[in-house]
Amino acid sequence: MLRHRGATTLISTALVTGIIGWLIGSARGQKPVQSEQEVASVPNPLAPFPLSLPNLSREEPYLGLDPKIADHFWEKWKLLTVRYRKDNGELRFIYANDLAWEGIRRGVKEMPQGAIFAKAAYSTTEDPSFPVSAVPWSPTRVQLMLKNTKKYPSTGGWGYAIYMPRSVNPPLETPEVRRNTVMSCYACHMIVRDKDYVFSEPIFDESLRTPGLGRYSQKFIPTPVEELAENIRPQIAKILKPTLATQVKFLTMPLFEGSIDESIAPISNYAEKEKVPFLLTDNKADLYLLAFPGKSTSVCLKPVEVVISLGTIGTPAHKRKIKRLRLCSGTIIHSQMELISE
Ligand code: HEC
Repeated sequence: MLRHRGATTLISTALVTGIIGWLIGSARGQKPVQSEQEVASVPNPLAPFPLSLPNLSREEPYLGLDPKIADHFWEKWKLLTVRYRKDNGELRFIYANDLAWEGIRRGVKEMPQGAIFAKAAYSTTEDPSFPVSAVPWSPTRVQLMLKNTKKYPSTGGWGYAIYMPRSVNPPLETPEVRRNTVMSCYACHMIVRDKDYVFSEPIFDESLRTPGLGRYSQKFIPTPVEELAENIRPQIAKILKPTLATQVKFLTMPLFEGSIDESIAPISNYAEKEKVPFLLTDNKADLYLLAFPGKSTSVCLKPVEVVISLGTIGTPAHKRKIKRLRLCSGTIIHSQMELISE
């Protein structure tokens, strides 16, 4: 069990089984991750058998973004990059249409109007004839980004759309739901606002890549704990007290709970590597993620502790629901829920 000092109340304790699945929406119920090979051997439970990519020529527009313009993009456009998510074993193939490719090639600050990026995500499995090699198994979704500054002024000039395999427009999705989805796309792509909201970099030509990977970590500014916003300062100070840290590397931006979950892996890695606490908050500091180097234990020589605030909804005003995670080399080994008072 974890240390829990001060006036904290232990609500529940849960070992790792199921936690990773909880954290990664798209891999719900998945077994805890031990190694890349094991990840690769677990097909995404949301796609239990191979499917085809959605037929974009038959899908309805997504809040005005007509997917027909990206029909069969995997045959017509250029493959910009491939990304692999170690936590849920997903492969992502990212394509650029001619305008987007041209923008990438010229290294423009702002993508030309009409630029489109398309991403196809796949769960992976073992190649039966060569099991250490992971192969794409079943598509889990297709996502689109279309640049049109006039049409999408409130989301950084990009329209966003998402289609599931075989979806043919799930009729249950109201425009309201879609607007929320699009806002969550935009919120996370904000991380790379200075690259016109585009994460991907071309794999085939090194000279076209933005120098200095790890740019995200460089956005965190060293900040004394006493300069943090009123509504979180006492809590952060209390959590960090046993570590004697008086400064955090701090970044604030629009966030939602999904982006907090997605940030656990990179930010805990930064904290482990730089051996200082990292704090990410949303603009109102309702949500936060604090990662800091923990004390070594018998299980783990370089553990990182992560505290996620789940907001204050349903809890007394002076208390906040938090979740504490202990990680060993990026893998969650322990998790518990607490109420922390100021
Ligand atoms: C929590 C963060 C996050 C959220 C939410 C998110 N994305 Fe992304 N997106 C990424 C990252 C990181 C990449 C880089 C490729 C990868 O790792 O899969 C990416 C890549 C993309 C790309 C390829 C172009 C690029 O920027 O590299 C498209 C298209 C895309 N996302 C669309 C969407 C859409 C549509 C939504 C909402 C339904 C969405 N994204 C939500 C993080 C996010």
